[in-house]
Amino acid sequence: MCVFSLLKSLVYALPLMLLAEMMHSAEVLAAPGVVNNDIDWEFSGAMLSVPRSSIAATSVGHLALFAGGKLQNGTLTDVVDIFDRKTNKWTTARLSAARSEIGAGSVAGRYALFAGGLDDSFKPMTLVDVYDAMTGHWSQIRLGTARAAPRMLDLGDLTAIVGGLSGDLQYLSNAVDYVDAKLGISSAALEGRYPQLGVAVSDPVGGVGLYTSGYENIQPGQRFNDFQAANRTTVFTAQGTAVGFDGGAQFPFPRWGASGAAANGVFAVGGGHVFGSGSEELTTTSDRVDVYHTTTGKWSSTALKMSVARDYPLAQAVGDYVVFVSGTQQSKDFDILDTRTSRFVNMSEHRPALHTLRSDAAAATVDGCLLVIAGGSVYGGRNKTASVEIFDACSGF
Ligand SMILES: *[C@@H]1O[C@H](CO)[C@@H](O)[C@H](O)[C@H]1NC(C)=O
Ligand SMILES: *[C@@H]1O[C@H](CO)[C@@H](O)[C@H](O)[C@H]1NC(C)=O
Ligand SMILES: *[C@@H]1O[C@H](CO)[C@@H](O)[C@H](O)[C@H]1NC(C)=O
Ligand SMILES: *[C@@H]1O[C@H](CO)[C@@H](O)[C@H](O)[C@H]1NC(C)=O
Repeated sequence: MCVFSLLKSLVYALPLMLLAEMMHSAEVLAAPGVVNNDIDWEFSGAMLSVPRSSIAATSVGHLALFAGGKLQNGTLTDVVDIFDRKTNKWTTARLSAARSEIGAGSVAGRYALFAGGLDDSFKPMTLVDVYDAMTGHWSQIRLGTARAAPRMLDLGDLTAIVGGLSGDLQYLSNAVDYVDAKLGISSAALEGRYPQLGVAVSDPVGGVGLYTSGYENIQPGQRFNDFQAANRTTVFTAQGTAVGFDGGAQFPFPRWGASGAAANGVFAVGGGHVFGSGSEELTTTSDRVDVYHTTTGKWSSTALKMSVARDYPLAQAVGDYVVFVSGTQQSKDFDILDTRTSRFVNMSEHRPALHTLRSDAAAATVDGCLLVIAGGSVYGGRNKTASVEIFDACSGF
């Protein structure tokens, strides 16, 4: 079973011309942990304690945490697998309740948050399990509103838990719960005509978060819902403990199933799908990446393209890069966007790639430089996997 023991560490390098360009622009903006002139990402493998999909993943301290999800036989689990980058060891813990569709994030660089979810009767929950990376203790707090799959915006000293599935006739929730560095919770509601289930992308360093795209229920409160792709963008900003939100520039190409990540004030939202109006093809998967700059408050007028169309890709910030991977049956390759140049890195020669093609996997990035991809469905969705792939870009540490 363990294919990883057969693999040597794989090392990837960039074409030389790009290296020169990156060295030139890296002086000021390079994030810690990524050597300015070198993105050699070293591969290693591991296994979760139990194969599963729909895992909630986040990182806090030097840890990556993978919580809950669905087992091979369809039951929900409370198990949490925790990887410690400092010791290179895995341990396990338990959530206070088994569930899936959990929102995962962190606050104040100290607490991992596992918010809401669906219990085994498919009911949205208010439960938030909190892991304190400083003490190793677990505790619980409660959302103001029960929801599943809420989106998480880490704004530094505060985290906004936004939207989700509400389990009532609104179907999509407009609720916002802010969690502060003392685990206090306060509630607000998104504005707008329709409840929206968006993509959440945040940059905790700048204290900025975007909630955008996704879809909205244009028949809220009615017995039959009707959904359309959403273009509304809400920009959250936090300074210390002060937090608020405002309407931002409309998302240029509304779609379902996109994912995003941010670094250096550059927010990249990529992949997803749109429904065709004709009868020939029901959905079209997108290779498009839309880029928002906090300096201008605008989306770029021209979109970037990934090497392949991806639906529900994994998107992670790794140093100065935003990585898109998975979300396709066609490719194991990474698409790597350099936020300093707003261009995809040309890796025609050496390119990090997954070893196991998977969907519905989870990803977390430890210390901004170690990307951990875990679990998900394999063999065309038939089986769950326990396999973990680790890509280490921390050689600058
Ligand atoms: C599902 O699998 C888990 C772990 O293998 C097991 O503990 C549990 O009893 C199973 N549940 C059902 C309903 O088969
Ligand atoms: C944004 O979406 C609204 C409906 O939610 C629509 O009326 C409007 O035309 C859209 N704007 C653009 C620029 O697509
Ligand atoms: C990427 O690099 C290869 C070889 O180094 C080159 O042939 C190709 O044209 C480059 N592609 C782009 C889009 O720059
Ligand atoms: C997929 O899962 C089933 C049921 O657990 C198992 O019998 C089968 O061997 C698995 N297939 C592969 C290719 O691992």
